[in-house]
Amino acid sequence: MALHAPRDQDIVVVGATGDLAARKLLPALYNLSIEGLLPKQGAIVGAAPMDWSEQKFADHVHHSITEFSRTGLDATAFASFVKRLRYVDTTNGLEPLRAALTRDRRLAYLAVPSSAFASLIAGIGKVGLSEGTSIVIEKPFGHDLATARALNADLHAVFPEGQIFRIDHYLGKETVQNLLVFRFGNSVFERVWHRDAVARVEITVAESIGVEHRGAFYEETGAIRDIVQNHLFQLLSVVAMEPPTSFEAEAIRNEKVKVLNAIHPVEPRDVVRGQYAAGEIDGAEVDAYRDEDGVSKRSTTETFAALRLHIDTWRWSGVPFMLRTGKRLRDRDTRVVIVFRDAPLHLFAGTGVHHVDNDRLVVRVQPDEGISFSFSAKQPGPELRTQEVGMDFSYGTSFKTSPPEAYERLLHDAFNDDHTLFIREDEVERGWAIVEPVLQNPPPIEFYDAGGWGPASADRIARPGHWHNSDDPLDSAQPRHRSAAHKKS
Ligand code: BG6
Repeated sequence: MALHAPRDQDIVVVGATGDLAARKLLPALYNLSIEGLLPKQGAIVGAAPMDWSEQKFADHVHHSITEFSRTGLDATAFASFVKRLRYVDTTNGLEPLRAALTRDRRLAYLAVPSSAFASLIAGIGKVGLSEGTSIVIEKPFGHDLATARALNADLHAVFPEGQIFRIDHYLGKETVQNLLVFRFGNSVFERVWHRDAVARVEITVAESIGVEHRGAFYEETGAIRDIVQNHLFQLLSVVAMEPPTSFEAEAIRNEKVKVLNAIHPVEPRDVVRGQYAAGEIDGAEVDAYRDEDGVSKRSTTETFAALRLHIDTWRWSGVPFMLRTGKRLRDRDTRVVIVFRDAPLHLFAGTGVHHVDNDRLVVRVQPDEGISFSFSAKQPGPELRTQEVGMDFSYGTSFKTSPPEAYERLLHDAFNDDHTLFIREDEVERGWAIVEPVLQNPPPIEFYDAGGWGPASADRIARPGHWHNSDDPLDSAQPRHRSAAHKKS
């Protein structure tokens, strides 16, 4: 991140009274202001179709920062932040926005349900604000390939691609960006980052939370649209891309799209879809998905998906990529596991060798952010016995700090017109094309107990290997102490 304040502009949060604004955007703007990384001049305008006073909005912002800001709320810092706040009721359209704006440039963040995107985009054009506006669009970007194309067309009717920022907050995570540095800033790892050395790649986005208060939204979405098409594919692209020719936005985005273009649309037989039944997480009983508010008792929406993909490139041909995500799994754990091939000769066979597992590199995206490498070492003593051991880099230990929020980084980049960590038109459409066969012909749902690692048949996707989970002793940063209930299954 360039450590300077971006050029002056207004910031318009459309959907300012909603959940995303409260949990992420308003606290991120506040934290950027503390670090001197907001534009020095310009208003922060909250817009929503609600009859709120400016004071009510300011109180709402105060509450959201108190509750969700990673740095808490400092009264002096808030006093200067609040001076920049404005509120506009958009019940009758966007025209009143104009009076609240103070600059020729602005960033408009659409933090609204995707069903509202098209009319808001057209509305910005209609009131003559497209010029000078950078527009940030949240996911899900469309519901499938056809709707994503339609949304791209709606956007381009009002904005050129250079003013469009399609956000996927996973790209704002420090650990995801560190994957680029790890691969391309060191000469060692890139040498083994291909089919000659790598047997398989696993990428997991596991959550222990359920759908929370978003049952109705999730019913229409499901794990494939919510996580696979975007967060998992972004992680996959960063892991599998070729070295870019420079660190410029287009050079990086070109390489990421090439990866997606080399993946065949996934066959339904290579996908397992699951849905959580009741179970226990951290010692507490949790409901089945079908018993959540806003969810049909006969829902067939997937809360878990595992799939196997192949990337037809010189680098990755023949290496399976296994992707997995789910809610109400045992742990919150996002990780990339690179499993290396067996040594060509088992030189130590017959000498008391205890072969445990293949060497592997685990990138812990969250939590316990870090990278570890597991390999065989000789046990001390006269006998030749091997044991799996690990080397570990942890953000907390090395940098004595926890990574900042992804939204801070991404907002700051958007203020600066830097598209590197945003999704391009062709990228989002290709992501949809890959999952399209499964969306059209979804395999049946399989149920799994909340608190486990998903339906048993997800193991089929991982064969002939197995998934590496955060509770495998060598695959977590430090052995985590779990309740007995947590260990179940
Ligand atoms: C969002 C999904 O994009 O990502 C949510 O809509 C999910 O369902 C969330 O919980 C996970 O984000 P993070 O940053 O907590 O891993």
